[in-house]
Amino acid sequence: MAEFDKDYWEAHWDPAASSGERELLANPYLATETAYLHPGGALDAGCGTGAEAIWLAEQGWQVTAADISPTALTTAQARAATTDVITPIDWVEADLARWEPERTWDLVVTSYAHPDIGQLPFYRRIASWVAPGGTLLIVGHLHDHQHGDHHGHPENASATLEAITSLFDSPQWQIDAAYEHARTVHPGGAPVQLRDVIVRAHRTA
Ligand SMILES: C[S@@+](CC[C@H](N)C(=O)[O-])C[C@H]1O[C@@H](n2cnc3c(N)ncnc32)[C@H](O)[C@@H]1O
Repeated sequence: MAEFDKDYWEAHWDPAASSGERELLANPYLATETAYLHPGGALDAGCGTGAEAIWLAEQGWQVTAADISPTALTTAQARAATTDVITPIDWVEADLARWEPERTWDLVVTSYAHPDIGQLPFYRRIASWVAPGGTLLIVGHLHDHQHGDHHGHPENASATLEAITSLFDSPQWQIDAAYEHARTVHPGGAPVQLRDVIVRAHRTA
């Protein structure tokens, strides 16, 4: 699965490439799923150009926003500088498939990140960075086996709801939300159907 390595993501976010659509709005699940949480420390794992990290900082979260792509981080930082973020964002260039952070967070979110190690090992890694009592929010792509994928998401960039929830089948975790959802986005003006998977879990111990 080397196709999702640093070079791949740098090419994806290259300002000259058409692939890197710059998402300006945070995905809708972030507001819904964090509505009842008290802002604390948050990690956005695979923050891209920063829409979710900026939204969290606007809500008062102390955000660490990490991505493997320095190009994405440069764009994100520039956007944050023009926004009324409440707390400064700590932008970190890191390969999260190998990173060993020396701290944990009250909230770890990841939206559509698909690194070279595959979805489930990645989700397992970032789950270990959630502080006791803290929350993990996963927003990912579903692969459409029947109709092919409308948005170019290969199977190794997706995971099923069942596979993700099975990661949290232990007394250490409680699943608070787990569902699939379809929505339409308009990158470049044209409608594109997304099929998403959303899992929110909190760490009991
Ligand atoms: C499809 S983009 C999603 C970006 C953003 N979260 C959003 O929802 O718009 C996936 C992001 O994950 C990042 N990523 C992929 N592999 C990574 C890794 N090993 N470590 C850190 N970030 C990674 C990519 O650089 C990219 O910014």
